[in-house]
Amino acid sequence: MSVDQGRRLAGRSARPSPDAARERYDQATADLDPPLALVDLGAFDRNAADMTRRAALAGNGGHPVRVATKSLRCRFLIERALATPGYRGVMCYSLAEALWLHATGTSDDLLVAYPSVDRGALRALAADSQARQHVTIMTDSQAHLDVVDRALGDGHPEIRVCLDLDVSWRPLARQPAVHIGTRRSPLHTPEQAADFARAITRRPGFRLVGVMGYEGQIAGLGDAPPGHPVRARLIRLIQGRSMPELVRRRTEAIRRIQALTSLEFVNGGGTGSLESTARDTSVTELTAGSGLVGPTLFDAYRRFSPEPALLFALPVVRRPGPGLATLFSGGYVASGTGTQDRLPRPYLPAGLNLTGTEGAGEVQTPVRGPAAGQLRTGDRVWLRHAKAGELAERFRDYHVLHEDGQLSTVPTYRGEGQCFGLGPPNRHEYRAHAAPAPCRFSSWAAAGRRASPESGVPGASGSLCPEASRMAVLEVAVPGVTVRSIPNGRINRLRSLSVQPWRRRRRPYWCHGSPSRYWTVES
Ligand SMILES: Cc1ncc(COP(=O)(O)O)c(C=O)c1O
Repeated sequence: MSVDQGRRLAGRSARPSPDAARERYDQATADLDPPLALVDLGAFDRNAADMTRRAALAGNGGHPVRVATKSLRCRFLIERALATPGYRGVMCYSLAEALWLHATGTSDDLLVAYPSVDRGALRALAADSQARQHVTIMTDSQAHLDVVDRALGDGHPEIRVCLDLDVSWRPLARQPAVHIGTRRSPLHTPEQAADFARAITRRPGFRLVGVMGYEGQIAGLGDAPPGHPVRARLIRLIQGRSMPELVRRRTEAIRRIQALTSLEFVNGGGTGSLESTARDTSVTELTAGSGLVGPTLFDAYRRFSPEPALLFALPVVRRPGPGLATLFSGGYVASGTGTQDRLPRPYLPAGLNLTGTEGAGEVQTPVRGPAAGQLRTGDRVWLRHAKAGELAERFRDYHVLHEDGQLSTVPTYRGEGQCFGLGPPNRHEYRAHAAPAPCRFSSWAAAGRRASPESGVPGASGSLCPEASRMAVLEVAVPGVTVRSIPNGRINRLRSLSVQPWRRRRRPYWCHGSPSRYWTVES
Protein backbone atom coordinates (compact mmCIF):
# COMPACT_ATOMS: atom_id res chain seq x y z
CA MET A 1 0.00 0.00 0.00
CA SER A 2 1.38 3.40 -0.85
CA VAL A 3 1.87 6.07 1.77
CA ASP A 4 -0.95 8.11 0.21
CA GLN A 5 -3.38 5.20 0.22
CA GLY A 6 -2.45 4.54 3.81
CA ARG A 7 -2.97 8.16 4.73
CA ARG A 8 -6.43 8.12 3.21
CA LEU A 9 -7.24 4.95 5.13
CA ALA A 10 -6.09 6.59 8.34
CA GLY A 11 -8.41 9.51 7.61
CA ARG A 12 -5.58 11.92 6.92
CA SER A 13 -6.43 15.05 5.08
CA ALA A 14 -4.12 16.44 2.42
CA ARG A 15 -1.33 18.56 3.85
CA PRO A 16 -1.96 22.27 3.61
CA SER A 17 0.25 24.18 1.18
CA PRO A 18 3.40 25.67 2.75
CA ASP A 19 1.95 29.18 2.41
CA ALA A 20 -1.32 28.21 4.09
CA ALA A 21 0.52 26.41 6.89
CA ARG A 22 2.79 29.37 7.45
CA GLU A 23 -0.12 31.79 7.58
CA ARG A 24 -1.96 29.57 10.04
CA TYR A 25 1.06 29.23 12.35
CA ASP A 26 1.95 32.92 12.12
CA GLN A 27 -1.61 34.01 12.84
CA ALA A 28 -2.08 31.63 15.77
CA THR A 29 1.09 32.82 17.47
CA ALA A 30 1.00 36.47 16.41
CA ASP A 31 0.79 37.68 20.02
CA LEU A 32 3.72 35.58 21.19
CA ASP A 33 7.35 36.53 20.90
CA PRO A 34 9.64 33.92 19.31
CA PRO A 35 11.69 31.83 19.96
CA LEU A 36 8.71 29.59 20.58
CA ALA A 37 7.77 25.99 19.92
CA LEU A 38 4.48 24.95 18.38
CA VAL A 39 2.66 21.62 18.17
CA ASP A 40 0.24 21.25 15.28
CA LEU A 41 -2.22 18.99 17.09
CA GLY A 42 -4.11 17.97 13.96
CA ALA A 43 -0.86 16.75 12.41
CA PHE A 44 0.08 15.00 15.67
CA ASP A 45 -3.26 13.17 15.77
CA ARG A 46 -3.03 12.18 12.12
CA ASN A 47 0.49 10.86 12.66
CA ALA A 48 -0.75 8.91 15.69
CA ALA A 49 -3.52 7.31 13.63
CA ASP A 50 -1.16 6.55 10.76
CA MET A 51 1.22 4.70 13.07
CA THR A 52 -1.50 2.40 14.40
CA ARG A 53 -2.56 1.78 10.81
CA ARG A 54 1.01 0.72 10.03
CA ALA A 55 1.15 -1.41 13.19
CA ALA A 56 -1.96 -3.23 11.97
CA LEU A 57 -0.66 -3.89 8.45
CA ALA A 58 0.68 -7.32 9.40
CA GLY A 59 -2.94 -8.37 9.68
CA ASN A 60 -2.50 -10.34 12.90
CA GLY A 61 -4.91 -8.17 14.83
CA GLY A 62 -2.62 -5.17 15.22
CA HIS A 63 -0.14 -4.66 18.00
CA PRO A 64 -0.51 -2.08 20.74
CA VAL A 65 2.04 0.71 20.45
CA ARG A 66 4.00 1.74 23.53
CA VAL A 67 4.78 5.48 23.56
CA ALA A 68 8.53 6.27 23.56
CA THR A 69 8.57 9.15 26.04
CA LYS A 70 12.09 10.27 25.13
CA SER A 71 10.69 11.29 21.77
CA LEU A 72 8.06 13.60 23.32
CA ARG A 73 9.26 14.76 26.77
CA CYS A 74 5.98 16.54 27.31
CA ARG A 75 3.26 14.96 29.44
CA PHE A 76 0.45 16.52 27.47
CA LEU A 77 1.68 14.86 24.27
CA ILE A 78 2.37 11.54 25.96
CA GLU A 79 -1.15 11.52 27.36
CA ARG A 80 -2.58 12.60 24.03
CA ALA A 81 -0.94 9.62 22.34
CA LEU A 82 -2.09 7.28 25.13
CA ALA A 83 -5.65 8.48 24.61
CA THR A 84 -5.47 7.45 20.92
CA PRO A 85 -6.86 3.98 20.17
CA GLY A 86 -4.04 1.49 19.67
CA TYR A 87 -1.57 2.99 22.16
CA ARG A 88 -0.83 1.38 25.49
CA GLY A 89 1.86 1.97 28.07
CA VAL A 90 5.01 4.06 27.96
CA MET A 91 8.65 3.34 27.28
CA CYS A 92 10.68 5.60 29.56
CA TYR A 93 14.31 6.52 29.23
CA SER A 94 15.21 6.67 32.91
CA LEU A 95 13.92 5.12 36.08
CA ALA A 96 13.57 8.53 37.72
CA GLU A 97 11.37 9.55 34.81
CA ALA A 98 9.26 6.39 35.13
CA LEU A 99 8.72 7.04 38.84
CA TRP A 100 7.68 10.58 38.10
CA LEU A 101 5.29 9.57 35.32
CA HIS A 102 3.84 6.94 37.60
CA ALA A 103 3.39 9.40 40.47
CA THR A 104 1.71 11.90 38.19
CA GLY A 105 -0.72 9.26 36.95
CA THR A 106 0.40 9.45 33.33
CA SER A 107 0.56 5.68 32.92
CA ASP A 108 0.44 2.51 34.97
CA ASP A 109 2.47 0.51 32.48
CA LEU A 110 6.00 1.84 32.41
CA LEU A 111 8.95 0.07 30.81
CA VAL A 112 12.36 1.65 31.38
CA ALA A 113 14.16 0.81 28.16
CA TYR A 114 17.74 1.37 29.27
CA PRO A 115 19.58 -0.09 32.27
CA SER A 116 19.39 1.85 35.55
CA VAL A 117 22.29 2.13 37.95
CA ASP A 118 20.78 5.11 39.77
CA ARG A 119 20.71 3.81 43.33
CA GLY A 120 18.45 6.58 44.61
CA ALA A 121 15.85 5.81 41.95
CA LEU A 122 16.14 2.07 42.62
CA ARG A 123 15.52 2.67 46.31
CA ALA A 124 12.54 4.90 45.50
CA LEU A 125 11.16 2.12 43.32
CA ALA A 126 11.65 -0.50 46.01
CA ALA A 127 9.96 1.71 48.59
CA ASP A 128 6.84 2.26 46.52
CA SER A 129 4.66 -0.85 46.39
CA GLN A 130 2.41 0.63 43.69
CA ALA A 131 5.29 1.64 41.45
CA ARG A 132 6.81 -1.83 41.87
CA GLN A 133 3.74 -3.33 40.24
CA HIS A 134 3.78 -0.97 37.29
CA VAL A 135 7.42 -0.17 36.51
CA THR A 136 9.73 -2.63 34.74
CA ILE A 137 13.46 -2.05 34.53
CA MET A 138 15.83 -3.25 31.81
CA THR A 139 18.68 -5.70 32.17
CA ASP A 140 21.11 -7.51 29.93
CA SER A 141 23.59 -8.86 32.49
CA GLN A 142 24.10 -10.06 36.03
CA ALA A 143 26.01 -6.82 36.66
CA HIS A 144 22.72 -4.89 36.52
CA LEU A 145 21.10 -7.23 39.00
CA ASP A 146 24.14 -6.90 41.27
CA VAL A 147 23.72 -3.12 41.28
CA VAL A 148 20.08 -3.53 42.30
CA ASP A 149 20.97 -6.00 45.06
CA ARG A 150 23.70 -3.74 46.41
CA ALA A 151 21.41 -0.70 46.34
CA LEU A 152 18.45 -2.41 47.97
CA GLY A 153 20.12 -4.90 50.29
CA ASP A 154 19.26 -8.49 51.12
CA GLY A 155 15.69 -9.65 50.83
CA HIS A 156 14.57 -6.68 48.77
CA PRO A 157 11.07 -6.68 47.31
CA GLU A 158 10.53 -8.19 43.89
CA ILE A 159 11.53 -5.93 41.01
CA ARG A 160 10.05 -6.44 37.55
CA VAL A 161 12.72 -6.82 34.89
CA CYS A 162 12.80 -7.02 31.11
CA LEU A 163 15.58 -8.76 29.21
CA ASP A 164 17.20 -6.67 26.47
CA LEU A 165 17.92 -8.81 23.41
CA ASP A 166 20.43 -7.57 20.86
CA VAL A 167 18.62 -7.55 17.51
CA SER A 168 21.33 -5.89 15.50
CA TRP A 169 22.70 -7.69 12.44
CA ARG A 170 25.97 -9.59 12.40
CA PRO A 171 26.27 -10.65 8.79
CA LEU A 172 29.48 -12.65 9.30
CA ALA A 173 28.90 -15.47 11.73
CA ARG A 174 32.58 -15.76 12.59
CA GLN A 175 33.18 -12.04 12.80
CA PRO A 176 30.98 -10.65 15.59
CA ALA A 177 32.88 -7.37 15.30
CA VAL A 178 30.99 -6.74 12.05
CA HIS A 179 27.94 -5.36 13.77
CA ILE A 180 25.17 -3.38 12.08
CA GLY A 181 22.78 -1.78 14.53
CA THR A 182 22.87 -0.20 17.95
CA ARG A 183 25.55 -1.15 20.48
CA ARG A 184 23.46 -2.19 23.44
CA SER A 185 22.84 -5.63 24.84
CA PRO A 186 25.53 -8.34 24.71
CA LEU A 187 22.76 -10.99 24.49
CA HIS A 188 22.77 -11.81 20.80
CA THR A 189 22.09 -15.51 20.41
CA PRO A 190 19.00 -17.37 21.64
CA GLU A 191 21.31 -19.45 23.87
CA GLN A 192 22.77 -16.34 25.53
CA ALA A 193 19.30 -14.89 26.06
CA ALA A 194 17.90 -18.12 27.49
CA ASP A 195 20.90 -18.61 29.80
CA PHE A 196 20.45 -15.15 31.24
CA ALA A 197 16.68 -15.58 31.49
CA ARG A 198 17.27 -18.76 33.48
CA ALA A 199 19.66 -16.88 35.79
CA ILE A 200 17.02 -14.20 36.42
CA THR A 201 14.31 -16.72 37.21
CA ARG A 202 16.62 -18.35 39.78
CA ARG A 203 17.56 -15.11 41.44
CA PRO A 204 15.40 -13.94 44.37
CA GLY A 205 14.12 -10.37 44.25
CA PHE A 206 13.54 -10.26 40.49
CA ARG A 207 10.71 -11.27 38.20
CA LEU A 208 11.32 -11.60 34.48
CA VAL A 209 8.21 -10.20 32.81
CA GLY A 210 9.29 -9.16 29.34
CA VAL A 211 11.82 -9.16 26.52
CA MET A 212 12.70 -6.16 24.41
CA GLY A 213 14.75 -5.84 21.24
CA TYR A 214 15.18 -2.61 19.31
CA GLU A 215 16.20 -3.09 15.69
CA GLY A 216 17.78 0.35 15.21
CA GLN A 217 19.27 -0.65 11.85
CA ILE A 218 15.71 -0.80 10.47
CA ALA A 219 13.63 1.38 12.77
CA GLY A 220 16.05 4.27 13.07
CA LEU A 221 17.70 4.33 9.66
CA GLY A 222 15.85 6.02 6.81
CA ASP A 223 16.05 3.98 3.60
CA ALA A 224 15.71 7.00 1.33
CA PRO A 225 18.37 9.51 2.44
CA PRO A 226 17.91 12.49 0.10
CA GLY A 227 20.78 12.98 -2.32
CA HIS A 228 22.48 9.67 -1.43
CA PRO A 229 21.23 7.02 -3.87
CA VAL A 230 24.11 4.62 -3.28
CA ARG A 231 23.72 4.84 0.47
CA ALA A 232 19.98 4.29 0.06
CA ARG A 233 20.61 1.09 -1.90
CA LEU A 234 23.02 -0.17 0.72
CA ILE A 235 20.61 0.57 3.57
CA ARG A 236 17.80 -1.25 1.77
CA LEU A 237 20.06 -4.23 1.21
CA ILE A 238 21.02 -4.32 4.90
CA GLN A 239 17.43 -3.96 6.04
CA GLY A 240 16.20 -6.60 3.59
CA ARG A 241 18.74 -9.14 4.88
CA SER A 242 18.63 -8.19 8.54
CA MET A 243 14.89 -8.49 9.09
CA PRO A 244 14.42 -12.20 8.26
CA GLU A 245 17.53 -13.06 10.28
CA LEU A 246 16.31 -11.19 13.34
CA VAL A 247 12.81 -12.65 13.11
CA ARG A 248 14.28 -16.16 13.15
CA ARG A 249 16.61 -15.36 16.02
CA ARG A 250 14.07 -13.46 18.10
CA THR A 251 11.46 -16.17 17.61
CA GLU A 252 13.88 -18.83 18.82
CA ALA A 253 15.01 -16.72 21.79
CA ILE A 254 11.40 -16.13 22.86
CA ARG A 255 10.54 -19.82 22.43
CA ARG A 256 13.38 -20.78 24.76
CA ILE A 257 12.56 -18.10 27.34
CA GLN A 258 8.85 -18.93 27.33
CA ALA A 259 9.83 -22.50 28.19
CA LEU A 260 11.38 -21.13 31.40
CA THR A 261 8.79 -18.57 32.43
CA SER A 262 5.71 -16.92 31.03
CA LEU A 263 6.29 -13.46 29.65
CA GLU A 264 3.82 -10.58 29.81
CA PHE A 265 5.20 -8.89 26.70
CA VAL A 266 7.76 -8.99 23.91
CA ASN A 267 8.51 -5.48 22.74
CA GLY A 268 10.13 -4.52 19.46
CA GLY A 269 10.60 -1.89 16.84
CA GLY A 270 10.33 1.83 16.55
CA THR A 271 8.72 4.41 14.32
CA GLY A 272 10.66 3.26 11.27
CA SER A 273 9.87 -0.46 11.56
CA LEU A 274 6.25 -0.69 12.64
CA GLU A 275 5.14 -2.76 9.64
CA SER A 276 8.04 -5.20 9.68
CA THR A 277 8.23 -5.67 13.46
CA ALA A 278 4.47 -6.27 13.57
CA ARG A 279 4.95 -9.16 11.14
CA ASP A 280 7.18 -10.94 13.65
CA THR A 281 4.74 -13.21 15.46
CA SER A 282 7.00 -13.50 18.50
CA VAL A 283 6.45 -9.79 19.22
CA THR A 284 3.38 -8.74 21.23
CA GLU A 285 3.78 -4.96 21.24
CA LEU A 286 5.62 -2.22 19.38
CA THR A 287 7.18 1.05 20.48
CA ALA A 288 7.06 4.39 18.70
CA GLY A 289 7.45 8.05 19.51
CA SER A 290 9.26 10.05 16.85
CA GLY A 291 6.64 9.46 14.19
CA LEU A 292 4.11 11.35 16.29
CA VAL A 293 5.89 14.65 15.74
CA GLY A 294 7.74 13.96 12.48
CA PRO A 295 11.25 15.39 12.90
CA THR A 296 13.49 15.77 9.84
CA LEU A 297 15.38 12.48 10.35
CA PHE A 298 12.07 10.74 9.66
CA ASP A 299 11.69 12.39 6.25
CA ALA A 300 14.05 9.77 4.85
CA TYR A 301 11.82 6.69 4.75
CA ARG A 302 9.94 5.24 1.80
CA ARG A 303 7.33 3.37 3.83
CA PHE A 304 5.76 6.37 5.55
CA SER A 305 6.05 10.11 5.82
CA PRO A 306 4.92 11.74 9.05
CA GLU A 307 3.60 15.29 8.97
CA PRO A 308 5.78 17.86 10.69
CA ALA A 309 3.82 18.34 13.91
CA LEU A 310 6.46 20.04 16.06
CA LEU A 311 8.05 23.26 14.89
CA PHE A 312 9.88 26.17 16.37
CA ALA A 313 9.86 29.79 15.32
CA LEU A 314 12.83 32.13 15.44
CA PRO A 315 12.64 35.87 14.82
CA VAL A 316 14.47 37.61 12.01
CA VAL A 317 16.77 40.05 13.79
CA ARG A 318 18.84 41.46 10.94
CA ARG A 319 19.41 41.42 7.20
CA PRO A 320 23.16 41.22 6.59
CA GLY A 321 22.76 41.45 2.81
CA PRO A 322 20.54 40.63 -0.11
CA GLY A 323 19.22 37.08 0.01
CA LEU A 324 20.25 36.64 3.64
CA ALA A 325 18.37 36.96 6.90
CA THR A 326 19.72 36.31 10.37
CA LEU A 327 17.59 34.66 13.02
CA PHE A 328 18.01 34.86 16.77
CA SER A 329 19.21 31.64 18.49
CA GLY A 330 18.56 28.28 16.79
CA GLY A 331 21.56 26.06 17.54
CA TYR A 332 19.37 23.20 18.66
CA VAL A 333 21.53 20.46 17.27
CA ALA A 334 20.39 16.87 17.68
CA SER A 335 22.42 14.18 19.43
CA GLY A 336 24.07 11.35 17.56
CA THR A 337 26.61 11.25 14.79
CA GLY A 338 27.41 14.95 14.67
CA THR A 339 26.66 15.03 10.96
CA GLN A 340 24.84 17.61 8.86
CA ASP A 341 21.52 15.78 9.20
CA ARG A 342 21.51 16.58 12.94
CA LEU A 343 21.06 20.31 12.30
CA PRO A 344 17.64 21.90 12.47
CA ARG A 345 16.13 22.70 9.10
CA PRO A 346 14.33 25.89 8.06
CA TYR A 347 10.79 24.89 7.10
CA LEU A 348 8.57 27.91 6.48
CA PRO A 349 8.63 30.01 4.41
CA ALA A 350 9.76 27.33 1.98
CA GLY A 351 13.01 27.96 0.16
CA LEU A 352 15.39 28.75 3.03
CA ASN A 353 18.62 26.99 3.94
CA LEU A 354 21.24 27.23 6.64
CA THR A 355 24.61 28.49 5.47
CA GLY A 356 27.46 25.98 5.19
CA THR A 357 29.81 28.20 7.17
CA GLU A 358 27.66 28.89 10.22
CA GLY A 359 25.00 26.19 10.39
CA ALA A 360 22.64 26.68 13.32
CA GLY A 361 24.27 29.19 15.61
CA GLU A 362 24.65 29.55 19.34
CA VAL A 363 23.01 32.99 19.29
CA GLN A 364 22.37 33.73 15.65
CA THR A 365 21.42 31.58 12.66
CA PRO A 366 21.74 33.08 9.19
CA VAL A 367 19.48 31.64 6.50
CA ARG A 368 19.68 32.13 2.76
CA GLY A 369 17.65 31.14 -0.25
CA PRO A 370 14.96 32.55 -2.51
CA ALA A 371 12.58 33.33 0.37
CA ALA A 372 15.19 35.19 2.43
CA GLY A 373 14.90 38.34 0.35
CA GLN A 374 11.23 38.74 1.35
CA LEU A 375 11.87 38.49 5.08
CA ARG A 376 11.74 41.66 7.14
CA THR A 377 13.25 42.25 10.54
CA GLY A 378 10.68 41.08 13.08
CA ASP A 379 9.24 38.36 10.82
CA ARG A 380 9.50 34.80 11.98
CA VAL A 381 10.91 31.69 10.36
CA TRP A 382 9.63 28.22 11.27
CA LEU A 383 12.16 25.43 11.64
CA ARG A 384 12.09 21.72 12.39
CA HIS A 385 14.37 19.80 14.73
CA ALA A 386 16.20 16.71 13.47
CA LYS A 387 14.97 14.58 16.38
CA ALA A 388 11.65 14.35 18.11
CA GLY A 389 12.22 14.80 21.84
CA GLU A 390 15.21 17.05 22.26
CA LEU A 391 13.43 20.29 21.44
CA ALA A 392 11.66 19.87 24.78
CA GLU A 393 15.02 20.42 26.48
CA ARG A 394 15.16 23.87 24.86
CA PHE A 395 11.64 25.14 25.57
CA ARG A 396 9.67 25.26 28.78
CA ASP A 397 6.35 25.41 26.98
CA TYR A 398 4.89 23.98 23.84
CA HIS A 399 2.11 26.06 22.31
CA VAL A 400 -0.52 23.69 21.01
CA LEU A 401 -2.49 24.69 17.94
CA HIS A 402 -5.81 22.84 17.94
CA GLU A 403 -7.69 21.98 14.76
CA ASP A 404 -10.27 24.70 15.51
CA GLY A 405 -7.55 27.36 15.64
CA GLN A 406 -7.44 27.63 19.44
CA LEU A 407 -4.04 27.88 21.02
CA SER A 408 -3.23 26.46 24.44
CA THR A 409 0.05 26.09 26.23
CA VAL A 410 1.44 23.01 27.93
CA PRO A 411 4.70 22.44 29.76
CA THR A 412 7.53 20.33 28.47
CA TYR A 413 9.50 18.20 30.93
CA ARG A 414 11.82 21.19 31.21
CA GLY A 415 8.87 23.42 31.98
CA GLU A 416 7.98 21.06 34.80
CA GLY A 417 11.53 21.31 36.11
CA GLN A 418 12.42 17.82 34.93
CA CYS A 419 15.51 16.78 33.01
CA PHE A 420 16.27 13.11 33.20
CA GLY A 421 19.73 13.36 31.71
CA LEU A 422 20.73 15.27 34.83
CA GLY A 423 22.18 14.11 38.11
CA PRO A 424 21.53 15.00 41.71
CA PRO A 425 19.14 17.99 41.57
CA ASN A 426 16.56 15.74 39.98
CA ARG A 427 16.62 13.31 42.83
CA HIS A 428 14.78 15.66 45.13
CA GLU A 429 12.09 15.98 42.57
CA TYR A 430 11.23 12.37 42.03
CA ARG A 431 11.37 11.77 45.75
CA ALA A 432 8.94 14.59 46.24
CA HIS A 433 6.69 13.27 43.50
CA ALA A 434 6.93 9.70 44.67
CA ALA A 435 5.51 10.80 48.02
CA PRO A 436 1.78 10.30 48.52
CA ALA A 437 -0.40 12.77 46.63
CA PRO A 438 0.11 15.96 48.58
CA CYS A 439 -3.33 17.47 48.64
CA ARG A 440 -6.75 16.44 47.54
CA PHE A 441 -8.52 19.21 45.81
CA SER A 442 -11.65 17.29 44.97
CA SER A 443 -13.17 17.55 48.42
CA TRP A 444 -11.43 20.80 49.16
CA ALA A 445 -12.73 22.31 45.97
CA ALA A 446 -16.23 21.00 46.44
CA ALA A 447 -16.51 22.59 49.82
CA GLY A 448 -14.68 25.75 48.76
CA ARG A 449 -12.69 25.43 51.94
CA ARG A 450 -9.18 26.51 52.62
CA ALA A 451 -6.52 23.89 52.31
CA SER A 452 -5.52 22.41 55.57
CA PRO A 453 -1.89 22.50 56.65
CA GLU A 454 -1.69 18.74 56.22
CA SER A 455 -2.50 19.19 52.53
CA GLY A 456 1.22 18.96 51.89
CA VAL A 457 1.42 22.41 50.33
CA PRO A 458 3.34 24.45 52.84
CA GLY A 459 1.38 27.54 53.72
CA ALA A 460 -1.19 26.85 51.02
CA SER A 461 -4.65 28.22 51.10
CA GLY A 462 -7.08 28.26 48.27
CA SER A 463 -10.55 28.41 46.91
CA LEU A 464 -12.29 27.30 43.80
CA CYS A 465 -13.62 30.00 41.52
CA PRO A 466 -15.51 28.52 38.63
CA GLU A 467 -15.74 31.33 36.15
CA ALA A 468 -16.88 31.20 32.57
CA SER A 469 -17.45 27.67 31.38
CA ARG A 470 -14.14 27.40 29.54
CA MET A 471 -12.02 28.80 32.30
CA ALA A 472 -12.52 27.34 35.71
CA VAL A 473 -9.97 28.97 37.92
CA LEU A 474 -8.45 27.43 40.93
CA GLU A 475 -6.47 29.81 43.04
CA VAL A 476 -4.00 28.62 45.57
CA ALA A 477 -2.05 31.06 47.63
CA VAL A 478 1.26 29.57 48.49
CA PRO A 479 2.90 32.77 49.65
CA GLY A 480 3.49 34.76 46.50
CA VAL A 481 2.20 32.08 44.11
CA THR A 482 -1.09 31.79 42.27
CA VAL A 483 -2.26 28.61 40.61
CA ARG A 484 -4.65 28.74 37.70
CA SER A 485 -6.06 26.15 35.42
CA ILE A 486 -5.38 26.38 31.74
CA PRO A 487 -8.34 27.25 29.54
CA ASN A 488 -10.55 24.22 29.04
CA GLY A 489 -9.35 22.70 32.31
CA ARG A 490 -12.19 21.01 34.07
CA ILE A 491 -12.11 21.23 37.79
CA ASN A 492 -13.78 17.92 38.41
CA ARG A 493 -10.87 16.11 36.76
CA LEU A 494 -8.31 17.50 39.15
CA ARG A 495 -6.99 14.86 41.48
CA SER A 496 -4.07 16.34 43.25
CA LEU A 497 -1.71 19.23 43.06
CA SER A 498 1.77 19.64 44.35
CA VAL A 499 3.43 22.99 44.67
CA GLN A 500 7.06 23.17 45.56
CA PRO A 501 7.75 26.64 46.86
CA TRP A 502 11.50 26.32 46.33
CA ARG A 503 10.87 26.06 42.63
CA ARG A 504 8.96 29.30 42.26
CA ARG A 505 9.69 31.22 39.12
CA ARG A 506 8.80 34.46 37.58
CA ARG A 507 7.51 32.78 34.48
CA PRO A 508 4.34 30.75 34.65
CA TYR A 509 5.22 27.47 36.25
CA TRP A 510 3.40 24.24 35.76
CA CYS A 511 2.61 21.60 38.27
CA HIS A 512 0.58 18.47 38.46
CA GLY A 513 -3.11 18.28 38.03
CA SER A 514 -4.98 15.17 37.10
CA PRO A 515 -3.43 12.81 34.59
CA SER A 516 -4.72 14.96 31.80
CA ARG A 517 -4.93 18.46 33.19
CA TYR A 518 -2.25 21.00 33.88
CA TRP A 519 -2.08 23.97 36.16
CA THR A 520 0.03 27.04 36.00
CA VAL A 521 1.66 28.62 38.99
CA GLU A 522 2.50 32.25 38.69
CA SER A 523 4.56 34.16 41.16
C1 LIG B 1 14.56 0.81 22.97
C2 LIG B 1 13.94 1.66 21.92
N1 LIG B 1 12.74 1.31 21.42
C3 LIG B 1 12.15 2.07 20.49
C4 LIG B 1 12.73 3.20 19.99
C5 LIG B 1 12.01 3.95 18.91
O1 LIG B 1 11.69 5.27 19.22
P1 LIG B 1 11.16 6.22 18.07
O2 LIG B 1 9.89 5.67 17.57
O3 LIG B 1 10.98 7.52 18.77
O4 LIG B 1 12.21 6.28 17.01
C6 LIG B 1 13.99 3.59 20.46
C7 LIG B 1 14.66 4.77 19.93
O5 LIG B 1 15.81 5.03 20.11
C8 LIG B 1 14.60 2.80 21.46
O6 LIG B 1 15.81 3.12 21.97
